[in-house]
Amino acid sequence: MAVIVLIGFMGSGKTSVGQIVAARLELPFVDSDAVIEDRAGRPIRELFVVEGEPAFREREHSTVAELVAGPDAVVALGGGAVLDPRTRSALAGSHVVYLRVSYAEARSRIGSDEQRPLLQRPDIEDVYRSRLAIYEEVATVMADTDGRDAAAVAEGLLGQLTAGRERRT
Ligand code: S3P
Repeated sequence: MAVIVLIGFMGSGKTSVGQIVAARLELPFVDSDAVIEDRAGRPIRELFVVEGEPAFREREHSTVAELVAGPDAVVALGGGAVLDPRTRSALAGSHVVYLRVSYAEARSRIGSDEQRPLLQRPDIEDVYRSRLAIYEEVATVMADTDGRDAAAVAEGLLGQLTAGRERRT
């Protein structure tokens, strides 16, 4: 089946949907943020403070490039991972699932999570808007998530993935 990658803004449900899809396909689930934290020995919030965002993005790029080249798995990426053009290139050959979420719904799902340093940015809504075209460009499969629970989103995706209804692979 190749690697299935989930992309989308914070709060789009990449982890919860990804876990269900992985279980149904009997594939391992990997969260790139969790791998980065394990390897760094610190939470992302601390990496942003101690090393700065550019250093986090470098770690993110190398981790994601490695995961998508690795054995078949369902891999959830952090919401900003696909901003790096090198990471976008590394995704060629993977199924790339974009979980769409409106800004209002994303905010209500994540609240003011202190583990997510980007939420401190006063222009976070602009950050959200500036990413939408990039998510769309890299996606081979898209799903709307507003008002839907993770199980329903996952079922819809499994249908699309197994029927081969993708933009490209
Ligand atoms: C980020 C999203 C986070 C995490 C980091 C930066 C972003 O992941 O990678 O805080 O730039 O959108 P989630 O999308 O899993 O919350």
